[in-house]
Parts: sequence; C-alpha cells; structure tokens
Amino acid sequence: MIGVFDSGSGGLTILKELVKTFPDQDFTYLGDHANAPYGHRSNQQIVDMTTKGVDALMKRDCRLVVLACNTAAAVALRTIQQGWLADNIPENRVLGVLVPMVEAVTGVSWHHTEPPQDNKDDRSVILFATKKTIESGAYREEVAKRSPGVNWIEKPCPGLVDAIEGGAGRRPLAGLVAGFVDEAMPFLVGQPLGSVVLGCTHFPLVEDLFRAALPDDADIYSQPQIVAEALRDYLVSHPEFASGGTGTIRAFTTGDPDSLAVLDMGLANFEHLSL
Ligand code: DGL
Repeated sequence: MIGVFDSGSGGLTILKELVKTFPDQDFTYLGDHANAPYGHRSNQQIVDMTTKGVDALMKRDCRLVVLACNTAAAVALRTIQQGWLADNIPENRVLGVLVPMVEAVTGVSWHHTEPPQDNKDDRSVILFATKKTIESGAYREEVAKRSPGVNWIEKPCPGLVDAIEGGAGRRPLAGLVAGFVDEAMPFLVGQPLGSVVLGCTHFPLVEDLFRAALPDDADIYSQPQIVAEALRDYLVSHPEFASGGTGTIRAFTTGDPDSLAVLDMGLANFEHLSL
C-alpha cells in the first residue's frame, strides 16, 4: 500500500497520475483539509501536521508515503525523515515531490550537487508556488547548485490554493493566475523565459489558465508526470515498497467529505479521519 499525503486536494493531481502509472498498486490518500492551506502556516505547524498525516497513513499499512505537497516536502520532509521516521519506523520511507522536479528542471541527478562542466543553461525559469515553499529556499538552493546560470524567478501565489480549495469559478481563478504571471514577467531581465515550474500540487488543476497567461513558447513542467516517473524508478530499485495489490484506492480527509465532491476527481469517495 502506498500512501499519498497533501494539505488538501492538490495531491489528487499526483495520485491520479500514480494510479495511471501503477494500475495494480493500492493507494491510500489523506488530505488534511481541516488544516489547509499549509502555505501560510509556521514551519513547526507544518512539521507537526505532516507528521500526524504520515503516521496515520503508516498505521493504515502504507510503508511508503509520498508527500504530494511541495509546502510539506520543502518544510517538513527532511525533519520527518531524520527525526520521527528514523526514531520510530526506520524501515518505512517518506518521499517528496521536489527532488524529481529539481532533477527535471536542471537535467542533473540529485546525487550530483555540482553543475556539469559544460552546463551553459542560461534560461529564465519561473517557479510559481506557495509563499512557504518559496521562503524555504529549497528549490532555489538545489537548482542553483546544479544550474547556476539559470535566471531563477520565484513568484508566490497567495490565495490561489485557498481559491481552488474553495471551489472558485474559472473566471476568478483566471484573473488570479494572470496577475501572478504579469507580476513575474518583468524579472526576465533579458534572459528568455524557457520554462515554468508549477511547484504546488494544486496548480495542475489550473494549468490551462497558466498556459493561457504565459508566452506560447514557455514549457510547463508537469509535476504529476515527473513524480510518477520518479516513483517508477524508485520502485525498480526498491521493489520491497512495490507491494502490489488490486488497484484499490481509498481517500481520507480530516475535513468534511461532503464538501469535497467537486474536487475528488472521481478517484474515490472521501471518508472522514480525525488526526
Ligand atoms: N498542494 C500544496 C503544495 O503543493 C498546497 C499547500 C498549501 O496547503 O498551501 O504546496
């Protein structure tokens, strides 16, 4: 059983791709809707809430949990891996979603913390993410180590997760997205925009709106596909976590299941779970 955790419904974008990639695996999803969004919370709160979520999934037989939340991964992953997990269940694993994205953007493996000699990458790349993910510096630092010539632009998107979770209509969402894109564009300073990182798992739900607001030639890195590919590689080298199954999906929320129907993406009906 593989666990997938997010502060709310954004991780469903990752789960959907995982289910497509691994149709025979069983998945359990947990969205901490009662405490979402995490993007405005303190680091300690994010660590505590994420730990509780991972613990709940591991108690439900998930030996491997994917933090399908950039904010939780950026702020809490290392602390959980080196603290709570190492102290309590060292045989289990927690993975995040930043590592595969950094590898995809830079084309450099996580194990290489130096840029290749011939690295002449001087694109502009814009990261759209929550304020907390950006404040953590995780993307910035890891990309700079591997691709120092990239003009890395960071654009926090306050209110976007809240609006998606709140079921806002396409028009207000399009206005928000266009505003964030407009605010980021002046930072290109002559280095052409090559790519865009949607560094929040909620944002694939509005990827079409980013696409419409961005210049046509800007690539958008798709986190669900990149994470699914990375998990495929991981399970090849760690087959003990590919437990197999019958393609069963269960979904839990710390919030009200009835209010989530619009966001459940048809993957599973949410059941309530108190942490
Ligand atoms: N989906 C989460 C992420 O990837 C949203 C975080 C939040 O709840 O603010 O960052």
